Amino acid sequence: MTRPLRLGVNIDHVATVRNARGSGYPDPVRAALLAADAGADGITAHLREDRRHITDDDIARLSAKLTIPLNLEMAATDEMLGIALRHRPHAACIVPEKREERTTEGGLDAAGQHNHLAPMVTALGEVGIRVSLFIEPDARQIDAAVRLGAPVVELHTGRYAELDGPARADELRRIADAAALATKNGIEVHAGHGLTYDNVGPIAAIPQVRELNIGHFLIGEAIFSGLGDAVRRMREEMDAAR
Ligand code: PXP
Repeated sequence: MTRPLRLGVNIDHVATVRNARGSGYPDPVRAALLAADAGADGITAHLREDRRHITDDDIARLSAKLTIPLNLEMAATDEMLGIALRHRPHAACIVPEKREERTTEGGLDAAGQHNHLAPMVTALGEVGIRVSLFIEPDARQIDAAVRLGAPVVELHTGRYAELDGPARADELRRIADAAALATKNGIEVHAGHGLTYDNVGPIAAIPQVRELNIGHFLIGEAIFSGLGDAVRRMREEMDAAR
């Protein structure tokens, strides 16, 4: 059965905890397998330029062991392109990356970086990797994704997650409008960043959204309830809103 709304579990921060002590545990691959058993539809991992959480070896082991799709988040660099072409994950999500940021702040400037991104989108697509662009919910960026021929966009929900009241409602409308525009142009819509049990519902209810990628909150929640329960509860919240 294909689910109308897929859940991709981002396991980066299992690696953050591991790397805090330079130990071999907790292992993000073990977390990925557990998340899969609990109902995750895919696993997302961001190999950052500074390798602050996920490492090259994690990507190799995830590629070898996962039986559900791997979504590799990557900056638009030649190094990352080479790694993606070597491992051939199911999907690659191109994200902006600044060394000093704590997390991925803001979406990719697909409009301003057309000439840089175009050969990467083509090269990834040619070997069958489903390319997605992590962008702000903005018509200009959707137009850019159309011109680049990207099959998928992931809409950045970070602002939505940080706001409340009428400002959150405005941002939710921007996300819903962007989702409708992308779908009208034949682009599949994903969303993610900063999603929790409390704020996932309205995003999951946007009918065009096909996949959510959620990490930091789930890994934090796993401390209290275990990762399997956290993944199952998130699925329930998503399904209830759909
Ligand atoms: N989607 C993308 C493209 C991201 O870069 C991230 C963060 O790595 C996420 C989703 C997940 O965000 P969070 O960890 O806040 O759930």
